[in-house]
Parts: sequence; C-alpha cells; structure tokens
Amino acid sequence: NKAQAWSARFSEPVSDLVKRYTASVSFDQRLAAFDIQGSLAHADMLASIGIISGADQAAIERGMARILEEIGAGQFAWSIDLEDVHLNIEKRLVELIGDAGKRLHTGRSRNDQVATDIRLWVRNEIDLAIGLLRQLRHKLAGLALEHAATILPGFTHLQVAQPVTFGHHLLAYAEMFGRDAERLADCRKRVNRLPLGAAALAGTSFPIDRERVARTLGFDEVCRNSLDAVSDRDFAIEFCAAAALIMTHVSRLSEELVLWMSPRIGFIDLADRFCTGSSIMPQKKNPDVPELARGKTGRVNGHLVALLTLMKGQPLAYNKDNQEDKEGLFDSADTIRDTLTIFVDMVGGIRVKADAMRAAALQGYATATDLADYLVKKGVPFRDAHETVAHAVRECEQRGCDLADLPLADLQGFNSLIEEDIYGVLTLEGSVAARDHIGGTAPVRVRQEAERVLAETAQG
Ligand code: ARG
Repeated sequence: NKAQAWSARFSEPVSDLVKRYTASVSFDQRLAAFDIQGSLAHADMLASIGIISGADQAAIERGMARILEEIGAGQFAWSIDLEDVHLNIEKRLVELIGDAGKRLHTGRSRNDQVATDIRLWVRNEIDLAIGLLRQLRHKLAGLALEHAATILPGFTHLQVAQPVTFGHHLLAYAEMFGRDAERLADCRKRVNRLPLGAAALAGTSFPIDRERVARTLGFDEVCRNSLDAVSDRDFAIEFCAAAALIMTHVSRLSEELVLWMSPRIGFIDLADRFCTGSSIMPQKKNPDVPELARGKTGRVNGHLVALLTLMKGQPLAYNKDNQEDKEGLFDSADTIRDTLTIFVDMVGGIRVKADAMRAAALQGYATATDLADYLVKKGVPFRDAHETVAHAVRECEQRGCDLADLPLADLQGFNSLIEEDIYGVLTLEGSVAARDHIGGTAPVRVRQEAERVLAETAQG
C-alpha cells in the first residue's frame, strides 16, 4: 500500500473513518499558497547550500507554479488519501517533476512546515484586519466630526446621566478599535518568526541557512528553539484573543445600534441594506447585521478558549492535537474580516436623528451635575451641593418639569447663591461645552479628536 507518504512502515491501511478523522485537507487546503511560498523558500535555501541542484530548484519552481495555477482554477484534485495540504501538494509535485519533487522535503518535516504556513497565513490576516480597523476608525471619525455638537444623553446603568455629544460617543469606539489594531501589530512581532529548520523537533543534520529562509519569507526573526518552534501555537492564541476583543468591541457597538434603532429610542436609522423585514409583520425593519455581529462574538470567544485548551495539556514537542488549531483560527479570522468589512460600510450609512437625541437628553435631569458644579464654584462643598440639587430634582419630579424650567425664585429657595446665569449652565449646550479638556465631550474637543483620528487613518 503506497497510498500514504508513510505507509511503508505499516502492515494494514487505516479504516475510512480513521482516514477521515485524521485528515485535515478539507480545511487546511486554504493554506496552499503559503505552503508553496514556504516550499519555494526552502528549495532556494537547499540549492544555495548545494543540497539540491539548480536544475532541481528550477524544476520545483516550475512545478509549484503549475500547482498554484491548478489550485486557483479549481482544477487541483485534493485527495483525502493524502491527508493534508502538504502531502497533497508534494504528491502532485512529484507527479509533475519526478525526483526533484522528492528531494524538496530534505531537512524539513511537516511539523516545521505547517507551523510556518500558519504563521504566514496569520501574518496576512493581521495585515488585512489592521487595514479594516483603520477604515472603520476613519468612518467613525468622519461621522463624529459631522456630529461634534449633536447632543444625546450619556448613560450609566442605562439611566440618563449627563449630556454628551454623539461625536464623542462615536470616538469612544474609534479608541477601542485603535487599541485593537495596536494589539494586532504587537502580536505580529511574535507571529513573524521562522519555524522552518526545526524539522520534526530536533533540527536537522543538514547545514541549513535559516536566516536566508527567514529573509526570503519576510520573517523578522528565526525561532530559537526547535522543540518550541514546531509545537507552540501561542501566536495563534494571541491572534484569537485579539480577534475576540475586536468582536467584543463590535458587539458593544452593535448593542447600541440595536437599541438606538428601536422605535422606543429612535436615535438612528440604519440603511435598508443592513436590515431585513419580517415574513409576518409587514411594518418591521430589523437590525439583523448588528444583531448577528453581536451573536458571532460568541463563536470567536469560543475559538479562543478552544485553542487555549488545545495547548494546555501537550508535552513537547509536536502532537497531532495541533491539527485542531486551524478551523477555529480560520473562522475567527473570517468572522472579523467579514464583520469589519460590513461595519465600515454600515457606519458610513448611519442616519442620525438629532431631534430624538436632543429630546431624550432633555429628560432625566441630565444637567443636575452641572447645577451642583455651579454651586461648588460659588464656594459650596460638593457634598452639600449634591444634596441641594437632589432636593431640586425631587421638586421637578413632582411638578413634572426640567431643572431649567424652575423659576429663578424657586431655584434660589434651594440655595440663595443661584443667580440668573444658572440658565446658561443648565442647558445641554452649556453642559457639554463646559467639559473642555483632553478627552472631554465639548464640541471643540470632539472636533479636534475627530480630526486627529481622521489624519491618523487617512490612506497613506
Ligand atoms: N496536518 C498536520 C497539522 O495540521 C501537519 C503536521 C503533521 N505532522 C505529522 N507528523 N503528522 O498539524
């Protein structure tokens, strides 16, 4: 039985179920382009140190180019008998170029090969995700600039707290996504190291030039320990953790979009292309995209936990457990890529209902803190001012009016230091404008911050 690359040692073939159980080609074939890239770099190095001839290297390049074409055209015959992407490609290479193809695997193992492939793949996904986060921040900052002075209630405990500007609220997410991009860039440093040369686990007896391979593949460094190089997937776990945080931030934003779009709140409308209707209730327009994004956060969190669990019990060095690293990793990357791509478009299409925001901010005594601060500036200790304002709020509740609706004489009944200028303080505009410091909600600051983010995220 010559079906498998390793069958010579075995006396009976595996059952069909075991074959399916142990094979990974159904999902790892998407590593093919990176697998080929890694093989070409390895062949180049083998030729450079005289392990294979220049003619062999040329044949390998020719064969691999052909294979890449076949895969691209959907004409490559993937076979589960050949277990994984690596053996499928190698087999085809030997079919195409003969013995030169058989020499390619010199000084290499599938263990360092697959670790290299995944690193190349994750590096590419990191670069894509960083680009999408940049675009999303750009859209958020653009909308923030437009709404630097649009006022809505800020909430704590989902109770009206203090007025804030919508631009400020949006820029909070721009900050979160900015940190997410930083996290990915940091993770990239540890992803971008070369495992090849570790071979199965102990290194190889051939006089390999790992630095040359690293340079060819654009790796910043070479993994310094062969046992570690083939066996740890911490870099993939870091990526999944960064992806989970991206989705966590997307999910918080989604929750707000869903709430804001509820007719009971009515702060925004989403473009129709991100919503769907109901098959029974003709009036419905449901914010499906943010709801799904919120829901998909669960699977991305799950992949992180799965990978952590996959790793925790493994002795050095490579174990087949590691084959289970891929599907979750791929799905995390696919999910953030699709989600961020849709959000870039969706955020640009948010229709803001400024009147509804303003009306909501006028309910719930959002400027109560401003009244307390006003008294403090007149020398009243903050705790006493807090109590005075609490009495005023209770009075308003009884009368069914806002603080700004109380006549001056009544306000002075709570504290005689209150003067006519209090009405400037109790307005929404006065309240937000007063928070004029770095990180504050004043429109002038929000404009500055939005412009800063816009410049930072402008396409280079
Ligand atoms: N398909 C394997 C994986 O994804 C490749 C490495 C297999 N190595 C081995 N000796 N079975 O991890």
